[in-house]
Amino acid sequence: MRSSLLAFATVALAARPFLNEPDTGIDEALASVANGTLPDLESLVGLPDFEWAARHSMNISAYTYYRNGAAGEWSYRNNLEVFQRFRLRPRVMVDITNIESTLPTTILGHNFSAPFFISPCARAGYAHPDAETNLVKGAGAENILYMPALYASKTIEEIAAAKGNNSAQVLFQQVYLTDNDTDTKALFARIEKSGSKAIIMTVDSAADGNRHRAKRYGVGSADSSYSYLTWDLYHKLSNMTTLPIIPKGIQTVEDARLAVENGVKAFMISNHGGRQLDTTPSSLEVALEIHNEDPEIFKKVEVYADGGVRYGADVLKLLALGVKAVGVGRPFMFSNVYGVDGVKKAIELLKHEVAIDAANLGVADLKKIGPQYVDWRSTNAWFS
Ligand SMILES: Cc1cc2nc3c(=O)[nH]c(=O)nc-3n(C[C@H](O)[C@H](O)[C@H](O)COP(=O)(O)O)c2cc1C
Ligand SMILES: *[C@@H]1O[C@H](CO)[C@@H](O)[C@H](O)[C@H]1NC(C)=O
Ligand SMILES: *[C@@H]1O[C@H](CO)[C@@H](O)[C@H](O)[C@H]1NC(C)=O
Ligand SMILES: *[C@@H]1O[C@H](CO)[C@@H](O)[C@H](O)[C@H]1NC(C)=O
Ligand SMILES: *[C@@H]1O[C@H](CO)[C@@H](O)[C@H](O)[C@H]1NC(C)=O
Ligand SMILES: *[C@@H]1O[C@H](CO)[C@@H](O)[C@H](O)[C@H]1NC(C)=O
Repeated sequence: MRSSLLAFATVALAARPFLNEPDTGIDEALASVANGTLPDLESLVGLPDFEWAARHSMNISAYTYYRNGAAGEWSYRNNLEVFQRFRLRPRVMVDITNIESTLPTTILGHNFSAPFFISPCARAGYAHPDAETNLVKGAGAENILYMPALYASKTIEEIAAAKGNNSAQVLFQQVYLTDNDTDTKALFARIEKSGSKAIIMTVDSAADGNRHRAKRYGVGSADSSYSYLTWDLYHKLSNMTTLPIIPKGIQTVEDARLAVENGVKAFMISNHGGRQLDTTPSSLEVALEIHNEDPEIFKKVEVYADGGVRYGADVLKLLALGVKAVGVGRPFMFSNVYGVDGVKKAIELLKHEVAIDAANLGVADLKKIGPQYVDWRSTNAWFS
């Protein structure tokens, strides 16, 4: 009886595994890599591999700070799993040979080599002593956008200085704000002086994130206070700076509409990587809600989105709905265990995947991808 129950449990688990790092053979290929050491960068073949490398080399508390999600981590898992619920609709016999030349795009009018960016993540120093400076340099070398976090291991000034000769490199600075206008004005002045081209205002974290995994190691949220976040405040803040202020963390079509009505130039869909409020929707689900109920929003302002993006095809599904650029958080934080070279390699891998996946999807010009390339009926009975 006992063994048959066990057998049943095993089968049930096997039928619905959650694979934080889907099995593509890395354990076998890198079996000889000792714990606490890094595999050769050349042996990593995709974004998920950087988590494997970080898990094997960072201490458990630092790794946990990057890895954790809120509460039971249902949103964290859904962010990753949601992409496989929607099947692609590849078109064939299309001349896709120029696809690579169509990757460059603009974000708020600034030119970049690809429609994805590095999302703001606090405490890059947990992965590497040079911390955020590696992310600046990697993004600069590959000409993609980096959004440094306010709660970074380096100062705003140190991060700006890392641009080096590449002083035209564009950064957007993420902020958490207090209701102290004196402090906010001083912070905005520093951000403007550092040369940032926009302010990313995180709006999905009005309170502390409920983070069980992180609590075990004392590595909770960088912003744990109750924050006064309203559209009135948004207007007041907009008067304190010449930079555009982009709300990050929109999760409903209602708030997307309000963002447009309140005059934003852009907003970001995000559930904070599933780290803040558990059972919030993934960005793909929110983008689909906007697409179904108010698709004009994607034409009125620029919409960015992040959460769970690990493969080229994930990027394509968000772009297909009208998202202008897609953010990636944890994989770039993990890639920083290798320093600048790791960050660059992660960017190169994702660029290549976006290009080859678009080509196999029959997209000749990435700018012309649309919702017709995806079957938006969810196909997976486990989740619908
Ligand atoms: C370690 C870590 C720290 C983060 N810190 C911040 C932060 O300070 N401000 C913020 O707006 N978002 C923060 N985020 C959320 C990211 O900006 C982004 O929304 C999320 O990581 C995207 O999901 P992904 O990691 O699955 O790509 C953080 C995420 C991680 C993993
Ligand atoms: C690394 O540590 C894990 C967990 O402690 C262990 O299962 C594994 O065998 C170790 N691997 C090596 C190569 O030492
Ligand atoms: C961005 O690219 C466009 C088209 O290639 C070009 O005309 C423009 O000068 C570029 N802008 C900047 C700031 O480099
Ligand atoms: C883990 O690593 C981080 C970053 O290097 C360090 O700050 C922290 O003190 C380490 N913690 C433990 C328990 O070793
Ligand atoms: C706001 O911050 C400034 C500078 O940090 C401080 O002097 C002032 O007392 C603060 N004001 C309030 C109302 O807390
Ligand atoms: C912003 O500034 C404008 C022009 O100075 C002013 O009319 C408006 O009331 C200000 N808005 C807020 C919310 O402070």
